[in-house]
Amino acid sequence: MDKIIIEGGVPLQGQVNISGAKNAALPILVSSLLTEGQNIYHNVPQLRDIDSIKELLSYLCADIQTEGDTVKIKADGLCKTEAPYDLVRKMRASVLVLGPLVARVKKARVSLPGGCAIGARPINLHLKGLARLGASIELKHGYVEASADRLVGDDFYFDMPTVTGTENIMMAAVLAKGKTVLRNAAREPEITALADVLNRMGADVQGAGSSVITINGVSELHPAEVTIIPDRIETGTFMVAAALTKGDVTISRCEPDHLRAVINKLKLTGSEVIVKDKEIRVKGPDRICSADIKTQPYPGFPTDMQAQFMVLMSVAKGLSVISETIFENRFIHVSELHRLGADIRISGDSAIIKGVPTLSGAPVMASDLRASASLILAGLVAEGSTEVSRVYHLDRGYEAMEKKFSALGARIQRVR
Ligand code: EPU
Repeated sequence: MDKIIIEGGVPLQGQVNISGAKNAALPILVSSLLTEGQNIYHNVPQLRDIDSIKELLSYLCADIQTEGDTVKIKADGLCKTEAPYDLVRKMRASVLVLGPLVARVKKARVSLPGGCAIGARPINLHLKGLARLGASIELKHGYVEASADRLVGDDFYFDMPTVTGTENIMMAAVLAKGKTVLRNAAREPEITALADVLNRMGADVQGAGSSVITINGVSELHPAEVTIIPDRIETGTFMVAAALTKGDVTISRCEPDHLRAVINKLKLTGSEVIVKDKEIRVKGPDRICSADIKTQPYPGFPTDMQAQFMVLMSVAKGLSVISETIFENRFIHVSELHRLGADIRISGDSAIIKGVPTLSGAPVMASDLRASASLILAGLVAEGSTEVSRVYHLDRGYEAMEKKFSALGARIQRVR
């Protein structure tokens, strides 16, 4: 298993390009199931999660060709309608095939994903939404079995905004008969990106990016050629890295509009943030100021940036409180940050962080994707050597992270 070793203390300098967004690419690649013909996707990041979704689509007999960051998918003759446990447990976003399969081939059998390190993460709202469109849903032997001759549009209210839930039902509704209205829908940029792709395929989706999405069903779709939007969480991670190391980094090929909450918080910590079109330049302050954070659905502060921000607060001047309102167990990185000398106390859904002047390097273990990123960030600023093991979590969602940091001057290497 790979490890990443970092000798901390180098202020990052230079320019870095952001890759395509994992969480936009996953549903968009799945949307290829909705039509015959060849879909072409550009700017697809090379990640383990993308490999996992390609593996699932291949299992369903879609034809997939990858050339660099371009992926071509043709799902003409689907030979299976099942997402097996082995594939779903590797990556829970696999449940995204449920809606498209029922919409296009009238049935699907998808393993229930089970819990994950950061929380229970049920999919009850995906199932309720699909049932509202007329699908019959049964839970048997750990699988969801869903079927419908043709889905019929209806009005559906999400009890809470769910990103993949909204994506799943949106993909089901595009081929349903009549109009579907999704209320209290998630508003993340990845939802808007998926709606744009569906519309390019001939769907009629209105209002994505707001909490009410209206979908007028069509009888068939056609393939599309699209470019995946930049990854806002990778962007935010590099922003924090620049601030943390007192560096000066220009982050290019990103979408600053998707990061307003992160930009605002970073400015409060004393960092200089200069936004220009598709570029963000971050200059770190001499001593970081503390700031409180509460994670919220978009456009609030993203839960996927919570762990990285906690590292920044660990070396800030003063006390800060970070409240995690999305996932019930997303503080797993705290005990590893303790090993690096951070002073953090958990109380319910909040972490109280007393900034310390420096962290000190130590061996630590990654437990999930964003927790891994936070440990790498901590290593960049810690005195001495930090060894992060189980970096396969990192490889799920960050493309060539150590190479990008190394190009900014970090002393970082991967060892096998
Ligand atoms: N929820 C339910 N029932 C449902 C669905 C969700 O109770 O049927 C709850 C969840 O337990 C959670 C909240 O609703 O408390 C929001 O979860 P959501 O469904 O929005 O999360 P997700 O769709 O499973 C996506 C991202 C996550 C990101 C969250 C929140 C993808 C593939 N994953 O997950 O990304 O943290 O939205 O923004 O889009 C990551 O990239 O590291 C990652 C975990």
